[in-house]
Amino acid sequence: MNEHSGARARTVHQTARPHGFPTPDDFAFVESAVPEPAPGTALVENLYWSVDPYHREMMDGEFALNAPLEGRTIGRVTASRTPELAEGEIVFHRQGWRTHAVVTPEEVRRLPRFDGVPLSAYMSILGGTGLTAYVGLTRIARLQEGEDLFVSAAAGGVGTATGRLARAMGARRIVGSAGSPAKVAYLTEQVGYDAAFDYHAGPAVDLLAKAAPDGVDLYVDNVGGEQLEAAIEGLREFGRIVRIGTVAQYNAPQPLSAPRNLTEIVEKSLRMEGFHVRNYRDLQDELYDFVVPHLQSGRIGLDETIVDGFDQIVTAFLGMLRGANVGKMIIRATTAQP
Ligand SMILES: NC(=O)c1ccc[n+]([C@@H]2O[C@H](COP(=O)([O-])OP(=O)(O)OC[C@H]3O[C@@H](n4cnc5c(N)ncnc54)[C@H](OP(=O)(O)O)[C@@H]3O)[C@@H](O)[C@H]2O)c1
Repeated sequence: MNEHSGARARTVHQTARPHGFPTPDDFAFVESAVPEPAPGTALVENLYWSVDPYHREMMDGEFALNAPLEGRTIGRVTASRTPELAEGEIVFHRQGWRTHAVVTPEEVRRLPRFDGVPLSAYMSILGGTGLTAYVGLTRIARLQEGEDLFVSAAAGGVGTATGRLARAMGARRIVGSAGSPAKVAYLTEQVGYDAAFDYHAGPAVDLLAKAAPDGVDLYVDNVGGEQLEAAIEGLREFGRIVRIGTVAQYNAPQPLSAPRNLTEIVEKSLRMEGFHVRNYRDLQDELYDFVVPHLQSGRIGLDETIVDGFDQIVTAFLGMLRGANVGKMIIRATTAQP
């Protein structure tokens, strides 16, 4: 029995609003008949699913209860009633958290295939995760060769992509923080970070000062809170902060008390800017042009935690929120070819 055997489809629903960390009881797997594509649509069997920190944010209100959730996914067209989608085609769309989806041609994006690049890469460095890192570095920070940077949640999807891209773009010293000694070792041994620290090991301001004694030019902030405060302290004059996310906040019952040193933004003439990757979709081809040759040459490797089986999607999501992933957390159908 696999995701796509028999005549049943499965969908994950959110059934309750969590307080603090969500639990498996906040979700339900709902079975139904495999949907029939209406004229102008096609049936897709989903093969790869992305679970993301923003899903946790949506659980507080934007996800409707007891209804199918949304999420990024890649699937194969298995029945089509539109000439625009051929059976067998691989497509990207946003009807994730379910085994089967009925899509219109306008809802899907066709994925170009590059020699030697696996499909999972479209969920990690070639997908929204990599695009977020790319936009943060090129459009928000405007990274220059020879600059030094600090990245928080550095061992996650965006954090590993940021380290890999920054290195390929000519950054000098790259420092990261992550939640365990094993992740710290992964960053320096596999991803190409020059130094890294476990943010549980002491006050972030001290740990960063030790890892980057001469300061940094920019900070890529996936976390917020105490690490943002430490970065404000560690940035040089005219430094930049790219606000990507606030994962330290999403499961916290109270607002974060840090940063408490915003006056430094004036004193050191710092610039802090956030962005939403959805406003930069036009850079998708630019991302492929930059990253694919590096993937093919092996200069950039893939950082992915791949969990097999749609029935693991909730466990994988909850695990990601607690740091179970190294690189991008991806769920793969047991029917997918690696
Ligand atoms: N602006 C945008 O358009 C955009 C797009 C995509 C993602 N994002 C943001 O980018 C950030 C990273 O997303 P991602 O998809 O790459 O997820 P990710 O980093 O792969 O996974 C989340 C990671 O957050 C870390 N974490 C959890 N609680 C933490 C805490 N209290 N303090 C510090 N770290 C904590 C965990 O790693 P540890 O073991 O290291 O704790 C976990 O692995 C998130 O803030 C997300 O919201 C923004």
